[in-house]
Amino acid sequence: MNTMLQKANVYVEKNALNRKELKWYPSYHSAAPVGWINDPNGMCCFDGKYHLFYQYHPYGVTWGPMHWGHVTSTDMVNWKDEAVALAPDMEYDKNGCFSGSAIAHDGKMYLLYTGHVDLKQEKPEDKDRIETQCLAVSEDGINFEKIEKNPVMTLENIDYAFGGHFRDPKVWKHEDMFYTIVGSQKDEVTGQVLLFSSKDMVNWQPVGVMASGEGNQGFMWECPNFAEVDGKDVMVFSPQGVNPEGRRFLNKHQSGFFVGKLNYETGKYEHGKFDMLDYGSDFYAPQIMNTPDGRVVMIGWLDMWDRDYPEQEEGWAGMMTIPRELHIKGDKVVSTPVKEMEILRNEHIEVSSVEVKAEKQFAGMTGTAFELVLEADMANADEFSIKLETLANEEAVLSYDKKIGVLTMDCTNCGTTPKNKREVEIALTDNKLKLDIFVDKSSVEAFINDGERVMSARVYPMKPFNVVFESDGTTVLNNADFYTLNSIY
Ligand code: FRU
Repeated sequence: MNTMLQKANVYVEKNALNRKELKWYPSYHSAAPVGWINDPNGMCCFDGKYHLFYQYHPYGVTWGPMHWGHVTSTDMVNWKDEAVALAPDMEYDKNGCFSGSAIAHDGKMYLLYTGHVDLKQEKPEDKDRIETQCLAVSEDGINFEKIEKNPVMTLENIDYAFGGHFRDPKVWKHEDMFYTIVGSQKDEVTGQVLLFSSKDMVNWQPVGVMASGEGNQGFMWECPNFAEVDGKDVMVFSPQGVNPEGRRFLNKHQSGFFVGKLNYETGKYEHGKFDMLDYGSDFYAPQIMNTPDGRVVMIGWLDMWDRDYPEQEEGWAGMMTIPRELHIKGDKVVSTPVKEMEILRNEHIEVSSVEVKAEKQFAGMTGTAFELVLEADMANADEFSIKLETLANEEAVLSYDKKIGVLTMDCTNCGTTPKNKREVEIALTDNKLKLDIFVDKSSVEAFINDGERVMSARVYPMKPFNVVFESDGTTVLNNADFYTLNSIY
């Protein structure tokens, strides 16, 4: 009997929060029943269901020895809590079952994750940790067995990786081989991704370095992910330590992508420039998965490291983004909400062809969990804003400044900390600004011009939002559709 896992499950069951009663707990995003979560893990389809795991410390509202929490869904919208799947109960993962991925194969589900061992006390030379990749297998998609042969990948005999950072494996199948990429360091200041191949997922051969940083691309690449999107090989990853450049890279750590082509013979990956997947203040460690109907879907952690998490006072911390469908447009990865999100739509307020001069409000556009889809014609306006105001004198503002072609998400006056403001450059076609905005208690996700850019942030208002439109000059709201969104809890 696995006592650590059992203990975690008993604890979660006993201490599960009454989510509906909490001011900031999401009503339609995936989050934990109690405690702390970070990265999404192991997103996959198995046995007719979507599975999503997450880095989980059930016993507290701060990061701690990592378990894997687990939810399932038949539509990527309604998530059901499942038993905690992994606990750090082996010598090789005793300080945490770190991030990883999943794959369905031969009627079983395989989790490939990082076993984390902290050596800080002993500290041999340049290694402060031992990280290895480990396999756990499930017949039913709920109960997982760590295999006898763990760990299945180590840094032993690999002389092209620096230090002990070696984590977050992403496994996929190509023809009759399995491939895995793992985040690592080339030297103290350069991140890289290592490629491995295997016929059986137990015996892995190192292939080499699939990609590594150039210039300002961070010292460690976490959470590499990989999938073919619209015929291109896309690598998604989360570099730590990229320095701010103008409006970009302002978060503690970044998450972005390369678009390119992987040569499976040589293991070399030719790719274009690094760009961000989300320009908001709270987005990290995204995972991507292939769906049975041929889509590539991404979910990220709707948070950022090392900031305040006001929801801790409610007994939980951290949440996932809504699932986003990825496509290629030009040399970029664009992301839009999966179409299934529409099933949450409830009350609908629709306006069309309305001029906004100075401020304008529409009856009923108010709430804590809603979606606002709009197209604004700015031919005769310099600036257009959507203000999410509350009766407690708070506001989160999205505004587009046409003169400089910049959209700003300003959360500096919205409730308690963190107070963030982020900007993204985006050009309009025909003076039209398109937005699809999801608000959910303590989060805002804005998809701009069909997902060409996305901005996600956590906000912590004390009262519900009222939507207020504002224009400098005349903005025509060609259409604005406001929907209250149902709760999944
Ligand atoms: C990214 C990360 C991963 C690691 C996990 C630990 O947010 O640092 O690299 O596996 O979190 O919880």
